[in-house]
This record gives sequence, C-alpha cells and structure tokens, in this order.
Amino acid sequence: MTVAKENAALAALEFVEDGMVLGLGSGSTAEIFLEKLGDKVAGGLKVSGVPTSQRTADCAREAGIPLLDLDRVERIDLTIDGADEVDQAFHLIKGGGACLLREKIIAHASKRMLVIVDDRKMVETLGEFALPVEVDPFCLGLTAQHVYDALLQSGCKDGQTTLRQSKDGSGPLITDGGHYILDCRCREIPDPIATARALADIPGVMESGLFIDLADVIIIGEVDHAKVLEI
Ligand code: A5P
Repeated sequence: MTVAKENAALAALEFVEDGMVLGLGSGSTAEIFLEKLGDKVAGGLKVSGVPTSQRTADCAREAGIPLLDLDRVERIDLTIDGADEVDQAFHLIKGGGACLLREKIIAHASKRMLVIVDDRKMVETLGEFALPVEVDPFCLGLTAQHVYDALLQSGCKDGQTTLRQSKDGSGPLITDGGHYILDCRCREIPDPIATARALADIPGVMESGLFIDLADVIIIGEVDHAKVLEI
C-alpha cells in the first residue's frame, strides 16, 4: 500500500503554505510525507517543523526540514499525521508507533490537524485495532486493572490489556517520554467519547490513543488518487 500512502502524502502537501509551522507526525505514512516535504524545502519552500517523536526528528533532519526548539514553540499552524483507524466522525485510534502522547500534545496545539491514511484505515466502528494507552510504569498492575474496568464500563466489547514489548526483546517498550504502552483489545468501541473520558480519569494514564475532535481533514490515499474529506 505504499502507493496509496504516497498519494495521501502528496495530497497533504497541497495544504502546506510558505511560512507555516508544521506539526510532524510519526509512522510510515508520516515519514513518506516528510520525504516529499523535504523535496519542497530543497526547492525553496520555507517552513519549520515540530516533531512528534525522536524518530520523526531524525527523519526530518535527514530530509532537510528545519526544526524548532521545542521549548520555544509558540504556534503550530498545521499538523500532518497518520492514524491506525478513522471513523465517520473523524475520531481516531493512534499510537501504533508508540508516539501517541506527543502526537496528541502537538495535535491539540495545532490550528488544524490533517490525517493521512490509506483506505484500509477507514472503519465503521473503532476498536478492531488494539487501543494503545500510554501509562506511567509505577504500580502498573493497578493501572492496567483500572484501564480494563474503564473499557468495559464505557461499553467496549473487551478490555484485555497487553504490555507492549520492545522489538529487540529487552523488555517492555519505553516511549520517548519514559512510559509504557498497554495495547487494549476492545474489539468494538461503540462510544469513543465516553471511553476517552473514562481513560483520562485514571491516574497513571498519560494519554489514550483515542483522538476525539482533533482531526479536521482526512486524506484517504488509494492506488490512483487521494480523497480529501473535510469536517
Ligand atoms: C504513531 O504512534 C501512530 O499514531 C501512527 O501515526 C500510526 O500508527 C499510523 O502509522 P502508519 O502510518 O505506519 O500506519
């Protein structure tokens, strides 16, 4: 599906204007966008970026995109990021790449959020993709139990949590912010707003991968074109 991702990334470039401060998302689709943006910057486009992960910062530097000092960011005009699932109301599941906390901070601070996906990510009901929840490692068992309870009480069909492991097998995956990720098998999330609220109420939960009312534009890449949906 690389072609579909490329078509989504190319369509996203149309939204970028000279002088913009851009939130730079994480994941394979966002990385394709970074490459294309890098070509534009090489051709004279003037933008600056705010990366949502260390990996994205590295990719952006490699592509020649200037980055802002994170402590001096005053505004973000547009964030371009991927997603794991998107529903009809533009609610999202994110965090497959373990960057959800920083992605949400940047998306929330942005004037507009543009989401680039291939058509396999569009769903009727969120929840088939295991919902990532970023948690503090302290008393993990307690927090995991509260997450499980909150998922079931807010109407999810399941709530089983799995602690995400690092790819090198050295132990639990540690996010850029020093936290763990619980991947929660929900099967269906019939009320994403209620579930997001219930998770946000749990001490120890840094953020959930439910992005509610943050996306303004969804660009769906297909093999020969991209479809733009605006809220
Ligand atoms: C990163 O934490 C995620 O939110 C990604 O944006 C999401 O997993 C989509 O990634 P892909 O573009 O690689 O599918």
